[in-house]
Amino acid sequence: MEISAPLVVGICCVLLSSLIDVEAFNQNIHSLQVTVSENQPYRTAFHFQPPQNWLNGVCKWVPLIIQILMGQCIMGEFTICFTNTTPMVQCLVQNLATPKNLSDPFLREWVKFSKNPIMTPPNGVKANEFRDPTTAWKGLDGKWRVIIGSELNNHGMAILYQSEDFVNWTKYQHPLYISEETGMWECPDFYPVSINSTNGVDTSVQNPSVKHVMKASFNSHDYYMLGNYDSEMERFISESDFTGTSLDLRYDYGKFYASKTFFDNVKNRRILWGWVNESDSTEDDIEKGWSGLQSIPRRVWLDESGKQLLQWPVEEIETLRDKQVSIHGKKLLSGAVFELSGITAAQADVEVFFEVPELEEVEFMDPTGVDPQLLCGKENASSNGKFGPFGLLTLASKDLAEQTAIFFRVFRGPSRYIVLMCSDQSRSSLRKEVDKTTFGAFVDIDPCLEKISLRSLIDHSIVESYGGEGRTCITTRVYPMLASDEGMHLYLFNNGTSSVVISRLNAWSMKRAKINGKESLRYRAT
Ligand SMILES: *[C@@H]1O[C@H](CO)[C@@H](O)[C@H](O)[C@H]1NC(C)=O
Ligand SMILES: *[C@@H]1O[C@H](CO)[C@@H](O)[C@H](O)[C@H]1NC(C)=O
Ligand SMILES: *[C@@H]1O[C@H](CO)[C@@H](O)[C@H](O)[C@H]1NC(C)=O
Ligand SMILES: *[C@@H]1O[C@H](CO)[C@@H](O)[C@H](O)[C@H]1NC(C)=O
Ligand SMILES: *[C@@H]1O[C@H](CO)[C@@H](O)[C@H](O)[C@H]1NC(C)=O
Ligand SMILES: *[C@@H]1O[C@H](CO)[C@@H](O)[C@H](O)[C@H]1NC(C)=O
Repeated sequence: MEISAPLVVGICCVLLSSLIDVEAFNQNIHSLQVTVSENQPYRTAFHFQPPQNWLNGVCKWVPLIIQILMGQCIMGEFTICFTNTTPMVQCLVQNLATPKNLSDPFLREWVKFSKNPIMTPPNGVKANEFRDPTTAWKGLDGKWRVIIGSELNNHGMAILYQSEDFVNWTKYQHPLYISEETGMWECPDFYPVSINSTNGVDTSVQNPSVKHVMKASFNSHDYYMLGNYDSEMERFISESDFTGTSLDLRYDYGKFYASKTFFDNVKNRRILWGWVNESDSTEDDIEKGWSGLQSIPRRVWLDESGKQLLQWPVEEIETLRDKQVSIHGKKLLSGAVFELSGITAAQADVEVFFEVPELEEVEFMDPTGVDPQLLCGKENASSNGKFGPFGLLTLASKDLAEQTAIFFRVFRGPSRYIVLMCSDQSRSSLRKEVDKTTFGAFVDIDPCLEKISLRSLIDHSIVESYGGEGRTCITTRVYPMLASDEGMHLYLFNNGTSSVVISRLNAWSMKRAKINGKESLRYRAT
């Protein structure tokens, strides 16, 4: 679809304080006089984070990052619709802003629309439960549509608005979707995915070759449903509603919230970007001088099965790959702990394919009603089975007193094999006051037909892992104490009673990213 004015970007600011920090952030860009404390072991090298303060969403520096990613500026006119609070009463409203100078490739300055607000909480909706507009789409009737996150009687919903001119917005008679099983929806996202191609499609596309994704943020996680958009009835018809159980599909089974997607028409892909918060305390945040990261932007598309989305780090991240080590056809014996040396363990991109032979005798497990996250936290997953746990020990100290294990276990289910993926933070840091919750999810692959793959992006205090070639993602934040940059280690391990084969492994040291034309701040301090 051609970019006709206005090209609209919804922005997501969950907490209002972030608006203040945007200001602070912009001033920092201009002055580049940021004081970061000398000792910054947890600062990332290639994940986006602001120089200081609080980050919790893809706010108005999105175009800046697009610029960095694609190496070219965005053409066309921009309008952003954003949530703001009214000065006197605590009331959330939606406002518009346009760039002050369209020739500025970074679109650094924005002008608020004189007739703001353009939407106020409708009758029956609480004043503080009305936020986070989506990217607008244009219907077949030529009218713009946007949804806003909200709730009614403790049922999460997407309120639908329509407009002909992008300024005068009318609430539609019923929400685009309302869910019985969830509370307040934050940061909704609504977009089409192609059913027969891995390419992304423009947000306004409606035809038989797409399904629609409805995503909502609640309970600290980003959940999504697949279904069809009935544009005549103005309803999203989900294939299955949220259930409030571990069966609900999530973008990421670790820390990942308040995400949004956008369509990149240069490379015909849809890109997903989420917020990853800290797992240490507010006192730690104040001492560090910053809090929160953005995930690596991920390409997102529909799996061939049609049952779930797949995600993969954008290819641009591969330009940061530096020194490489490779392994082919190596047997990882029962009990093995094998160091992957030759790359920077604190700043790495690792991709490994495991092969599990002779699956017949693997333990039985009935997954009905089993929450995989709880399974990973219990002894079942970490105690020695026939196949697994096997995987990576990341951000580990030499003596393994500190380690973050990303691993798999294979079980035999009633009708098929089951692959469980876990991210075990219980030993990630000797520090006590850190949230070390273990994460886990099933990976929808058949280990008889496919190798079990894992890609982990390791960056000082974050590990973003992609299991089964993007079927299951788990992101975690960890704060090892013992391991300095040089003292950090990376291992492959197999605690299962049977050996597994590393059929292929490629791992790279990662270079630091240039953010805003400057090398990542973690290196400016040293
Ligand atoms: C607009 O941005 C361009 C490119 O950065 C700059 O050359 C120009 O001076 C700016 N115009 C104004 C009025 O600030
Ligand atoms: C806004 O749009 C609605 C619906 O199309 C229309 O009834 C109303 O008159 C419009 N208001 C203004 C101020 O243009
Ligand atoms: C995808 O499916 C649609 C609808 O069945 C069809 O019109 C379109 O040609 C297909 N595209 C490709 C690339 O196969
Ligand atoms: C932020 O981090 C805390 C501590 O780990 C966690 O309990 C909470 O769920 C996180 N919030 C979100 C929105 O991810
Ligand atoms: C996990 O182990 C516990 C006891 O160790 C057992 O009661 C439970 O059934 C096991 N769960 C599964 C899914 O095998
Ligand atoms: C692997 O097994 C060893 C020996 O029992 C144990 O010390 C270690 O904690 C296990 N590692 C993981 C990641 O489960």
